[in-house]
Amino acid sequence: MKKYEKVRREDYEAWYRENREYREMVKADDSRLAYHLMPETGWLNDPNGLCQFQGLYHIYYQYTPFEPTGEIKLWGHYTTRDFIHYKQEEPVLFPDQDMDAHGVYSGSAYVEDKTIHYFYTGNVKLFDRDDYDYIMGGRVSNTIHFTSQDGYHFSAKELVMNHGDYPDDMSCHIRDPKVYKEGEFYYMVLGARDVHSKGMVLLYRSMDLKKWGYFNRITTDKTFGYMWECPDLFCLDGQLCLVCCPQGVKPMGTEYQNVHQCTVFCLDYDFRENTCKLKSQLPGMVDRGFDFYAPQTFLDEKGRRILIGWMGIPDADYTNPTVNAGWQHALTMPRQLHMREGRLLQQPLEEMRELRRDRRDYDFEELDKGVEPGLVFEGRISFVTCHDMCLTVRGDVTLSYENGLLTLDMGTCGSGRTRRSVPLERLTDLHIFSDTTSLEIFVNEGREVFTTRVYGSHPGMRMEGDCSGNGIVYGLNGFI
Ligand code: FRU
Repeated sequence: MKKYEKVRREDYEAWYRENREYREMVKADDSRLAYHLMPETGWLNDPNGLCQFQGLYHIYYQYTPFEPTGEIKLWGHYTTRDFIHYKQEEPVLFPDQDMDAHGVYSGSAYVEDKTIHYFYTGNVKLFDRDDYDYIMGGRVSNTIHFTSQDGYHFSAKELVMNHGDYPDDMSCHIRDPKVYKEGEFYYMVLGARDVHSKGMVLLYRSMDLKKWGYFNRITTDKTFGYMWECPDLFCLDGQLCLVCCPQGVKPMGTEYQNVHQCTVFCLDYDFRENTCKLKSQLPGMVDRGFDFYAPQTFLDEKGRRILIGWMGIPDADYTNPTVNAGWQHALTMPRQLHMREGRLLQQPLEEMRELRRDRRDYDFEELDKGVEPGLVFEGRISFVTCHDMCLTVRGDVTLSYENGLLTLDMGTCGSGRTRRSVPLERLTDLHIFSDTTSLEIFVNEGREVFTTRVYGSHPGMRMEGDCSGNGIVYGLNGFI
């Protein structure tokens, strides 16, 4: 595919027919994950349009099937009823119109009255203009709506907003619509960068999901990054939350260490008075690992707030080894969210238990000698006391707790990435999900999470230190 050319469904289908060998090459790669969603070939980034409709979960995602470094974006599609059996569906959305010619960018789904409403950003790059300016005039960001009665067949795309509808002090970077309902109104959040390169979220309001009027903006007093991507506004256990991805934030101690952040603000919003107050000007970090960005949440039919993230990061300053095998990136495991005492809690979705096999129980003396769970396993470690400890998770990836600091050290397995830490008053438990080339580590019942890809590591878990407790290890099956 050429870099800046529309891709119609027929173009993709012809390409797919001609590229069986490419698919076989990727399939044979031994760094493919066992229980995470990946692109069949090429590149994947943000989860999009997450929803459950008539029992079936739809997981769409930013997808470049053609090559592994991510150029023109389509929407790929997986479905599942139970988060254990997945079906890879045909891509659903193509950059085939003038209003989305250079990428069908991220967007979301809103389910109401037997209809799924989708909103996404149609990206048009103005790369051939004489006055090309990446920040101010380098692109047009169209907000586009379409609907479906089944998640597979779609209405025509309809432009609902573009630059004439955005505030005058915005740059051309406005994207990633997500809808939230409060009272009789629908609200749409859009990630934005203003003309002074201050990151923020624009809030629009509608009575019918069709006509949208500018309502407000949500941002910090002082600039916190130049662009806030992928905003998600939702109410969790009575607390209104804004999860978003500020770009260009400088590290502060252990905080905001990645090139781009994924953060959570708690807010007090009086929608009648239209007043918004952030509870803190410095948002919490959603994840502490090296590979986590652009998550999206949705409410399922059981009323659970579920989060899925991109297990990757934009503008990474390293080359992911899987690029050589023709693919790159994955989605995280689905996680259930809760809010406790102003803190976001993330826990692996209970359906993941269905993947377990071969439970083994260990006391800390046995763990001290070392155990061999393979690379695809779940480990639960509960501490009765923990003064300090060092857990070798696999090969030379370690997790250590010392002087109130929990540190993940990638050793030689981080593809150039080194360490990430979080201060913790106490360490009570670790819940580790290891896959062939990934680790998701839930700490203190999910108050902190480290999500990271890991390369070239070896099986083997061992724990030393001044601590007591017990461990349970399960082998995990791959998706069925
Ligand atoms: C976040 C992001 C979004 C954009 C999409 C394009 O990773 O940059 O802001 O819509 O990816 O793929």
